[in-house]
Amino acid sequence: MNDKAQFVPRTQGNEISSFQTIWSAPSNIALVKYWGKKELQIPCNPSVSFTLDQCRTTTSVRFKKQKTAQDHTSLAVHYDGKPAPSFVPKVKTFIDRILPYAPYLKEYHLQIDTVNSFPHSSGIASSASAMAALAAAVMDLEQQIYPSLTVEDQIKKCSFLARLGSGSAARSVEGPLVLWGEHTATPDSSDLFGVRWVKAADVFKTYRDTILLVDKGQKEVSSTVGHNLMHNHPFAENRFSQANDHYQDLLAILEKGDLNGFADLVEREALSLHAMMLTSSPSYILMHPNTIQIIQEVRRYRKTTALNLTFTLDAGANVHLLYPEHESEQIGQFIESYLRQYCQDNELIYDRVGTGLKKM
Ligand code: DP6
Repeated sequence: MNDKAQFVPRTQGNEISSFQTIWSAPSNIALVKYWGKKELQIPCNPSVSFTLDQCRTTTSVRFKKQKTAQDHTSLAVHYDGKPAPSFVPKVKTFIDRILPYAPYLKEYHLQIDTVNSFPHSSGIASSASAMAALAAAVMDLEQQIYPSLTVEDQIKKCSFLARLGSGSAARSVEGPLVLWGEHTATPDSSDLFGVRWVKAADVFKTYRDTILLVDKGQKEVSSTVGHNLMHNHPFAENRFSQANDHYQDLLAILEKGDLNGFADLVEREALSLHAMMLTSSPSYILMHPNTIQIIQEVRRYRKTTALNLTFTLDAGANVHLLYPEHESEQIGQFIESYLRQYCQDNELIYDRVGTGLKKM
């Protein structure tokens, strides 16, 4: 189960001289957060996420076999129809990391055209959806070369490859809920790839996520830097142990359909993530005054209405509002009348839980 060797192709495959494919992959929002990692994208604790539906990256890849053998993969990247040389280093790092598992890539030139459904400057991390879409395209080529690959193997390896690009991308392949990182409570979970989790009560399979864009700019401190600051963090061990407990507790809550328990746990998780940033060395603050305003309003609203409006946070200032579909009309009115004003340029994104990759 946790052996990387299973992902190395062992036989000679078909000759494919050129191939084009287009994949759309969603973003995801962690309920129990991945924060802190070991070498090559192995998480320090297991995480759980909702797969999103509307926030997506669509990527077309044209693979063309090179006439002469290369010792590296040659590539060109376009974003939104324009050359995007600034994306090349990240894609190169990704390709270098996956080459041991996709050695055939060395023989190809890759023309990558990518576009996000959400604005590039929305403060929403696109690395999860971007890496998952790219991994899906690579796996589609692999399927041409090795047609005996089963769908199940393809999905598992897609998540495995995506993880090597960005940890959270391992959770952007399937939906509605995905587990990533080993935990004894879920024997099929793995540090190497995400697995779909289907035991949640129905109410959670149609959950809404409205993203309040408090700050559309680039984050001051990247997630990569944040993960690194968990090395030698005074609270790291307690945090990993808390995340392990939260993981198990959350799965029980999801299974029961316990909406109160969900709000309580998911909010504590989000604040715990930011507490790690507040107490690292150097310390930093990604929340903005409006982030705190929204959090206060959400808690007041839940208390006075008994409706199940909950927040969670990414590694940024934006707020994800989570709520059940059957309360979406009332909660939607509250968002429009009271919360939209806290967003930069009044911008927000209405999203919901989704099912994962789509071949276009
Ligand atoms: C706070 O997956 O972006 O969103 O592996 O370095 O690419 P890298 O980090 P990334 O970290 C995500 C952090 C988080 C929590 C989560 O999604 O679990």
